[in-house]
Amino acid sequence: MSQQNEIGLELKGLSKVLGGRVIIDNLDLQVKKGEMVSLLGPSGCGKTTTLRMIAGFLIPDNGTVTLAGKDVTTIGPEKRPSAMVFQNYALWPHMTVFKNVAYPLKVRKVNKAEIEKRVHDVLGVVNLMHHKDSRPAQISGGEQQRVALARALVQEPDILLLDEPLSNLDAKLRVKVREDIRDLQRRLGITTVIVTHDQDEALSISDRIAVMKEGKIEQFSTPEDIYNKPATEYVANFIGSLNRYEGSYSNGQISTGSDVVGVRPEDVTFDSKNSAGAVEATVSLVVPRGHFHEVYLKAQ
Ligand SMILES: Nc1ncnc2c1ncn2[C@@H]1O[C@H](COP(=O)(O)OP(=O)(O)OP(=O)(O)O)[C@@H](O)[C@H]1O
Ligand SMILES: [Mg+2]
Repeated sequence: MSQQNEIGLELKGLSKVLGGRVIIDNLDLQVKKGEMVSLLGPSGCGKTTTLRMIAGFLIPDNGTVTLAGKDVTTIGPEKRPSAMVFQNYALWPHMTVFKNVAYPLKVRKVNKAEIEKRVHDVLGVVNLMHHKDSRPAQISGGEQQRVALARALVQEPDILLLDEPLSNLDAKLRVKVREDIRDLQRRLGITTVIVTHDQDEALSISDRIAVMKEGKIEQFSTPEDIYNKPATEYVANFIGSLNRYEGSYSNGQISTGSDVVGVRPEDVTFDSKNSAGAVEATVSLVVPRGHFHEVYLKAQ
């Protein structure tokens, strides 16, 4: 892509106080054009609030929002080149699936024939053609979620904002839809910010992941870096599991010290020869996890 170094979205010094508390605290984020970035963090850390400020549903107290090179900090959502899928999908209950998806195009006065074509195309993408005449109350939660996604995609936005768009899908469909989103996002070069609490999802579909903590970004890097070179103990704990030791690490050994050493479970190996550096342990619990077993050890 020739656009690789262009900026798709930029947040500078973003702050927001809500209910008397600082919810977003001087947050900076730069997303390249065509890039897919995940916002990952615990409940209440400010992910939705950040998306709402990018989309224009909330105006920051301080800082700027720049989309596709244009400062949009104080302009309304309908005038921004972005489309958002809400955490609670917010479909119109009295409208059919088709009409829900067509709605944003109708508002923009797109002609009827084009609306017809675009809505059909996008309903095909999310696999919902057979439900085009159903109303939201007649379809499942996962299907409603896909309608919400279609309603955003049909706008062919420069910037797509997704707030946990897959949370109501079962495991298999979730993987399929997330791959469809990723494929479409890449093909159309849509700059995308997706909020998720599923670390597996973030690791598998993002170009980069922003890990948030209390209204700030703790680390912003590639999935590989976030997993293998976490900047802080918080990040290491948030993504993947971690065995934590107090001590220092050198030459393959952990010795007493004032640092903290984190070891991923898959990096622990079984050593029957009791070599130098090995720790004696007894198995306390074995949990079958499908294609692997999780083994809990109690070190002596
Ligand atoms: N209008 C509001 N008034 C007061 N507090 C608010 C308001 N909106 C959000 N908050 C608070 O801001 C914090 C961040 O909310 P936000 O919805 O951004 O969290 P989140 O990271 O999206 O969490 P979750 O993963 O649960 O969706 C929460 O503590 C929330 O209660
Ligand atoms: Mg949220």
